[in-house]
Amino acid sequence: MSEKFYVTTPIYYVNDRPHIGHAYTTVLGDVLARSHRSFSDPTFFLTGTDEHGQKVQQAAEKRGVDPLTHCNETVVRFQELWQRLGITNDYFIRTTEANHKKIVAKIMQDLYDRDEIYKADYTGWYCVGCERFFTEKDLVDGKCPDCGRDVNAITESNYFFRMSKYQDWLIDYIQTHPDFILPAFRANETLGFLKKPLADLCISRPKSRLAWGIELPFDKDYVCYVWFDALINYISGVGYGSDDEKFKAWWPASCHLIGKDILTTHTVYWPTMLKAMGLEMPKTIFAHGWWLTGNSKMSKSLGNVVNPMDMIDRAGVDAFRYFLLAEMSPGNDANFSEESFIARYNSDLANDLGNLLSRVSKLTIRATGGEIPVPGAVTADDRELADAVTDAIRIMEECLKSYKLDQGINAALNAVRAGNRYLEKCAPWTLAKNGETERLNSVLHNAADALCRVAVLLAPVMPEKMAELLVVLGADKAGIKGIADLKDFKSVAGLTMKEATPLFPRIIVEEEEAKKPAPQAEKKAKAEKVQEKKEELPAGLVTIDEFFKTQLKTAKVLTAEKVEGADKLLKLSIEVGSKTRQLVAGVAQFYTPEDIVGKTIVIVANLKPAKIRGIESQGMLLAAKDGGNLKLVTIDGDMPSGVSIG
Ligand code: ME8
Ligand code: MG
Repeated sequence: MSEKFYVTTPIYYVNDRPHIGHAYTTVLGDVLARSHRSFSDPTFFLTGTDEHGQKVQQAAEKRGVDPLTHCNETVVRFQELWQRLGITNDYFIRTTEANHKKIVAKIMQDLYDRDEIYKADYTGWYCVGCERFFTEKDLVDGKCPDCGRDVNAITESNYFFRMSKYQDWLIDYIQTHPDFILPAFRANETLGFLKKPLADLCISRPKSRLAWGIELPFDKDYVCYVWFDALINYISGVGYGSDDEKFKAWWPASCHLIGKDILTTHTVYWPTMLKAMGLEMPKTIFAHGWWLTGNSKMSKSLGNVVNPMDMIDRAGVDAFRYFLLAEMSPGNDANFSEESFIARYNSDLANDLGNLLSRVSKLTIRATGGEIPVPGAVTADDRELADAVTDAIRIMEECLKSYKLDQGINAALNAVRAGNRYLEKCAPWTLAKNGETERLNSVLHNAADALCRVAVLLAPVMPEKMAELLVVLGADKAGIKGIADLKDFKSVAGLTMKEATPLFPRIIVEEEEAKKPAPQAEKKAKAEKVQEKKEELPAGLVTIDEFFKTQLKTAKVLTAEKVEGADKLLKLSIEVGSKTRQLVAGVAQFYTPEDIVGKTIVIVANLKPAKIRGIESQGMLLAAKDGGNLKLVTIDGDMPSGVSIG
């Protein structure tokens, strides 16, 4: 490829807890960055956090700390998760850092001096949740058109950016640059939006209403609108106004990755801002769809957030990265469920890829002691496998340009499946038995060679596991850094294969396990053992095994309501990891619904469900009770829900 590659993610609201949606965009950016680096393209990958605005100010006030302290504490959640996920960003920008604030002020002053920014009275409707002003006609049923919440009418003097004068230019630019907004149907969405007259953009907030922001350099009674501030990160993060050489090296960005929720700000506000500054447009703004659970967008306020950490603990970082990228076609929405995660993990990774590796490694070690043999004459079967691999390489390369990584991954997995079919068809175990050494050598070599190339293709997605795979093949020191090197790489012949340990151990689903009838003898032995132990124990004591039969877990209370006609009972919906369940608890005389919502409590997670006053209760919460007093067992500090206690 050899062009420079500058990729960005949105800078996430520092207030939020990172979830799978944020993880997706960031892993996508990481895979693109790693891939381009493997082509030796000069690459810069920027991510970071958006730290100004009303929500941060309010959250800090609520906690009784100043906003920057609040940001310093919460930003760590993103930084730690990115570290855990192996994200190789070249810089992490925070909008509260000195350089960014200086550049935003400089840009505002310049635009003001050139009359691109002016002052005027303004009446609008403001949505606190979205931090956006709307005109009367934007509202839907008098509510925020984005989130449906109530809006407040506000009249005040403010500063405006002359966005409207760029409307015709922008329409023309989008129409003449088919790669500017991808997928193409998103460009149509923006063009649809631009059919209405574009208003000027209010870029200030009076400090009396919002103090937490970058002060306007020409009017100290105002701070900058958070979106105007945030978008500038894409240039301040690569030296605009502070390091000309660096800026020239990276700008214009190759790709701004975003979710479809922030299409307008990125394809209308940002291009017109850049135009007014006299800067080039980014090459592509790529908007992916949403991760959903059930059929709604995953968000903190809906309480249906799947904690990415849960799946990482269960299946490992690389499997998690793999799932995110393989499961979502970036134009569309994708559904997350534990079931779909485990199903894909087991079929693609444990079965297809894991099997191919373990077969190739076992057969080769058995046949040659480890050395990958030199192949003999080429047959039609060999060619078919080689073609599947060549296709995968070509498709992956194309998909890196079109951002449809799921298709590249799918092609790589097709090559893996072709490898498994090849082994079944050529039956090297039979060749070995019959002493057909030349053909056996070919088959072992070709399967290992296919596996090696697929591992290189998938390395940006699963860096650690694919590095391990190359070690098993003895190809780790073969000098193949990425797809580009595969063209000159002759073959794996002569490398020394090691014994494979399972890269992706199969995940056994609990229900599957329960269905499996344990062999009679084993059951009996187990029962006897328990009996034995019981007899040895002093009265009143339990063994640790017995204790751990009770699964205690953290749970977060999402909603609570009184049970009609039962003044002691509250009906709760609680989040336990990625699942929500219902629980009925006799705590109504000690806790109101408002008291209990939001608490992280402790539950017995594997209690047989019971009906209490006709309502199903799936588990039991723990509380200390002393006569007329009751206190819930809660967790000391921050802990996600669904975590085991013991
Ligand atoms: O909008 N599915 O920040 P944000 C897929 N600070 N992606 C999701 C997602 C979901 N359910 N939820 C979030 C902001 N994302 C601004 C951005 S940029 C100059 C300022 C991802 O914390 C997706 O990339 O709300 C989305 O666009 C972004 O997180 C929004 O993050
Ligand atoms: Mg958001």
